[in-house]
Order: sequence, then structure tokens, then C-alpha cells
Amino acid sequence: MNVYDSERIGELLEAEGYAAAPDAARADVVVLNTCHIREKAAEKVYSDIGRLKASRRPNGIKPVVVVAGCVAQAEGAEIVRRAPAVDVVVGPNAYHRLPAMLKAGGVDTDMPVESKFAVLPPRRAVVPASAFLTVQEGCDKFCTFCVVPYTRGAELSRPADALVAEAEALVAGGARELTLLGQNVNAYRDVTTSFADLLARIAAVRGLVRLRYTTSHPRDMNDELIAAHRDLPQLMPYLHLPVQSGSDRLLKAMNRAHTRASYLAILDRLRAARADIALSGDFIVGFPGETDADFAATLSIVREVGYAQAYSFKYSPRPGTPAATMGEQVPEDVKDARLAELQATIGETALAFNRASVGKRCDVLLERPGRRPGQLIGKSPWLQSVFVVSPSAKIGDIVTVDLIDAQPNSLEGAPVILTRAAA
Ligand code: 5AD
Ligand code: SF4
Repeated sequence: MNVYDSERIGELLEAEGYAAAPDAARADVVVLNTCHIREKAAEKVYSDIGRLKASRRPNGIKPVVVVAGCVAQAEGAEIVRRAPAVDVVVGPNAYHRLPAMLKAGGVDTDMPVESKFAVLPPRRAVVPASAFLTVQEGCDKFCTFCVVPYTRGAELSRPADALVAEAEALVAGGARELTLLGQNVNAYRDVTTSFADLLARIAAVRGLVRLRYTTSHPRDMNDELIAAHRDLPQLMPYLHLPVQSGSDRLLKAMNRAHTRASYLAILDRLRAARADIALSGDFIVGFPGETDADFAATLSIVREVGYAQAYSFKYSPRPGTPAATMGEQVPEDVKDARLAELQATIGETALAFNRASVGKRCDVLLERPGRRPGQLIGKSPWLQSVFVVSPSAKIGDIVTVDLIDAQPNSLEGAPVILTRAAA
């Protein structure tokens, strides 16, 4: 989501006459778009500011430093107190006001009534083959570990017509794949347009080949959305559906509003709709009170689901969240050991998933150059990175390959020369 917001901030400043600098060391204005989800991400901004403060441009001028994003939202004026080199602090819902703020300086962490999306300039004329589109922001779920409901505010969906128009603009600019984004993307609703309706409308945009969405909450995974995985050929067979823990006791303490069994039941329904769906998730280790038995339940759900990918994090106490003041905080060395074990287990299931793909024929959307000459890297329908050597192919092409070899994080694809049978 920060990638999407950063692109929009770039477009906004370009419309004001700014141009992208080759690197931060030569920029007149530096915007740090920040993340507050874990302490490590939030602290990084202060070291970045320190580095910028020490830097000078060839003409001796100091850069204007803007802190945007969720650290700006959460820490506001404190940032200027702690880092006086910062000129502007702007939250994720107010960055459309940045052009005026660059002239006046200051702090703006309002949750404005006007939507930034209504005033941001149009999308760039040329965009990558795989592009993001924010359709929903905010969160009403209040998991006890998470700052998002406080930094991003309440769940808010963008109007469906505006989203279809933005999708058409992105496809006109070269996008062949769109990933719809939201903190709770599947909670999307615009008057009578459900999230499944939105997927169907965007899938119908001419020229769009692939559609994805992230991140979802299990409690908004309804029948209609599950059916979309069966009915929409553009919707790729991949779902990121965080579970956080395999222990019911912890899921309750996390206020996740689902159990291990109810989560697994959703996956059964998804697999009935789309047998080959690849699953991904998020996990937290070391949530307050997590015992060896709770952690063992997390390892066992990873094996039971057989995740194709998963992201795992050490619990990080966040200011203002209920879990931060819970008793039984887990010692750091225990968190470290559990994280290592979990990541090794996820590595095993991911490798098993990739190995099971060897022998399949699939399409790959080429996104970037590889290291070897003639090599390109793209994504399979299951979001695996696939290396392809094809002198005739270029970035943005969709090529058909045979998956011939698997690594933990990638596969090798041999291009298939398709010949049309004579009529
Ligand atoms: N500590 C560690 N991980 C967290 N996440 C959210 N809040 C925290 C926290 N306080 C993780 C969750 C979420 C992902 C985006 O970040 O797993 O799904
Ligand atoms: Fe945070 Fe996601 Fe829970 Fe919302 S649903 S509180 S964004 S982890």
C-alpha cells in the first residue's frame, strides 16, 4: 500500500512541476513514506532522517524533508521535536495537501472529510505490467496487537465507478495485471457493489489479463467471493489470507474473531471452488502468553495448510494497542528461536509447493530482467517467481512455459513454442 501511495505522491508532485531525482542524495525534496506496523520499521525513519540531515546538495542547500505515512500519523508533531530537520509531516489520509504544505511547512495528521482520491491527479501515462490499485483503506477489526485501526482509521471503500475508471487508465498505460489493495480489501463495499461485484467489473476491463487482491481477513471471506475464484478466469489462483496463529487460545487473545477450524473450513471451501489455489499467510510469534504448545499449533497449521508462501514476524508491542500492556510478554530470545523454526517450516512447505509445480505448463507475466543475459523474471499464476531465458521475449509479455526446476523461492521455466494446428 505504501508503494501505491508513493506512486500517487510522485504523480502529485510531478503535476506541480517536480521531477524525480536520480537518487535521494541529489533530491531537493525527500519524502519518507513510513510504516508503523512494527517497531523496527518505525525506528528506521529516524536513522534515515539523520542521514539526510547530514547530507548537503552540490549547491550547499539542505533538502526539504517530508515524513509521510503511518509513522507521521501516529507520532505527528513528536517527529519534528525529535528530528528538527523534518519540514513537513503528513498522514496517509492527507497527502493530497502536500503541494501546499511544501510551501508552508507544518504537520497535518487530519483524517480529512474530503477523500484524497477525489483530488489526486490522474495516473501516469505509462505504468508497469503489474500495477497496484488501492480500493479500500482502514480497519475496523482491532486485532489486539495491531496499530492499523488507529493509524489508518475506519474502513472506507472507494466508489466502484472511480475504481473501474482508474483500472481502465492503468490498463491503457500498459498494466496487464492489477492487484487490488486494502488493509481489509475483502471488506470492500460501495452501496450495492460487493467486493465480488467489484472483482467482476474490473475483470471485465478490456486488456486486463490478470487480477489479484490483498490483504484479506478470514471473517470477510464470504460465499460470493469464494465463488468469484471459480467464476472469474482473470482472478489468479492465489490468496493471501493471514491466520496469525494456529492456537485458538491465542486467536481469542488476538481478537481475530475466527478459530483454527473456521479458518481451515474457509480454505476447504476455497479449494472446492478453485482446486489449485496457492495460499499465503501472515504469522506472529511471541504474542503475549504464547506457550510452547501454542507455538506448536502454529507450526502444525503451517504444515496442514501447506502454504506456498508466508510472512512471519516477531511480536512487536505497539503503543496504544491492548496487547502491548498484557502480562506474560515473551522474552526476545524465545521469539528469535520460534521465528527461526517457523521460517524453516514455511521454507519447507514453500519448497514442497514449488516442487509440486514442476511439470506444469503455465503462463508467466514477465516483470523484470534477470542476472544472466537473455534472462527475464516473471510471475506464475500462483505468484511464484519464474526465471525464463527467451531472447525474443520482453518485459510485459506473457509467455507460456513448462516449469522444469524448483528452488525454495523460485522456479525455472522453459518457453513453449506454441504452434497453431492447421485449420
Ligand atoms: N507485531 C508483529 N507483527 C505484526 N503485524 C501486525 N501488527 C504486528 C505487531 N504488533 C503483522 C501481522 C499482519 C502483518 C501485516 O503484520 O501478521 O498481518
Ligand atoms: Fe491489523 Fe489486519 Fe487485524 Fe486490521 S485485520 S487490526 S489491519 S491485523
